[in-house]
Amino acid sequence: MPPVELPAAVECCLPAAHRVMARCDELAQLSSMADGIQRLYLSAEQQETNAVVSAWMQEVGLKTRIDAAGSLIGESAQSKSTQPWLLLGSHLDTVPNAGRYDGILGVLLGIEAAHNCRDLPLNYEVIGFAEEEGVRFGTTLMTSRARAGSWDSAWWSLTDKQGETVAEAFNANGLDPDDIASACPAKNLLAYLEVHIEQGPILQDADLPLGVVDSIAAAQRFTITIEGRAGHAGTVPMSMRQDALVGAAHCILLAQRLSQELGMTATVGKVQAHPGAVNVISGRVELSLDARSVDEAMLERFVESYATAARALLTKENLSMQMTTIHQAGAAHCAGHIQEAMHTALSRLPLASTTISSGAGHDAMAMQDVCDIGMLFVRCKDGISHNPAESVTVEDVAWALCALQFTIEEIAAKL
Ligand code: HGY
Ligand code: MN
Ligand code: MN
Repeated sequence: MPPVELPAAVECCLPAAHRVMARCDELAQLSSMADGIQRLYLSAEQQETNAVVSAWMQEVGLKTRIDAAGSLIGESAQSKSTQPWLLLGSHLDTVPNAGRYDGILGVLLGIEAAHNCRDLPLNYEVIGFAEEEGVRFGTTLMTSRARAGSWDSAWWSLTDKQGETVAEAFNANGLDPDDIASACPAKNLLAYLEVHIEQGPILQDADLPLGVVDSIAAAQRFTITIEGRAGHAGTVPMSMRQDALVGAAHCILLAQRLSQELGMTATVGKVQAHPGAVNVISGRVELSLDARSVDEAMLERFVESYATAARALLTKENLSMQMTTIHQAGAAHCAGHIQEAMHTALSRLPLASTTISSGAGHDAMAMQDVCDIGMLFVRCKDGISHNPAESVTVEDVAWALCALQFTIEEIAAKL
């Protein structure tokens, strides 16, 4: 690959970019998987990660604490009541067998930018959210919702695969559920900025290292439970079966067909067949369904038509279905003035700027309840993410750090 020509300002950010890449590699070792990256909410690996990232925050003079929801917070040590707070960050939890940049990059770049922009008239709060992916308890954005004061009390009784509730996991981690409101302290918040890998191919196709996000798709997640009748694989005639796994197959293909017709995304990522034995007709299956669209009306249309069509297909197979919503997030819109500050920052680099909407969910969706939000996307190879092959270049990380710092300068200049 020919050497990448970088503008001087970006060149200056290369040493920090190398540090950020090395730190992503270091954090990738903190995992509950022997042969991959997995860091779940309120896990030992998460506590270890908070300790390591907290030390990096302290190195640049940030005062660190774990908030009431378990997220890592690094705040300007000498904050001034006359200055507004600028929040920078992303998430430190991961999906199973994850890449090493999803979320992590935004937290580490936030630390670098808070340090390099420390002389601007801003207080900084760098956040390493503890639960964005929703892997352990099924619902997502839990800790950014806590930071935004919108924790849902129904979450306390959610259980993980081992049957441990959120409340029990809090107690096991030295967190007090009664304290959750303190995760959203009263502060004069100016904005929340999140740098994140694009997790798609648009920037690579456009041969651009960065893009300004204008909106984040609305998302709904469901658990679909299909009830049939377990039976002997060798004796029950095919015409007399109530096979829940056949019903699941219909539901999976329906999600694909309907989302393609509407031009949105719908994914069945998890299938749990009971009893799950080779010689037993499945009596019950639980499916996950993740549906998203930037167009909220289209998402509603999908959910309605999907439920009706799925029920009809399952009735033909003499099966019943229950569809329970486990997550709902409206589309998020990045503030116009922050998008403008980002486009101005890119033009100063200089870099052609492009606007991009996000199909992936982000903590910024929760933070929009309490302040203006902005997101900057970083090119990732072939758009691969939620996969160990997730990768970025150190040059693009330098572009991102420089663009983030110029954006902060643009925002501060308008105070
Ligand atoms: O699911 C998402 O879009 C994000 O990666 N949590
Ligand atoms: Mn993710
Ligand atoms: Mn993410």
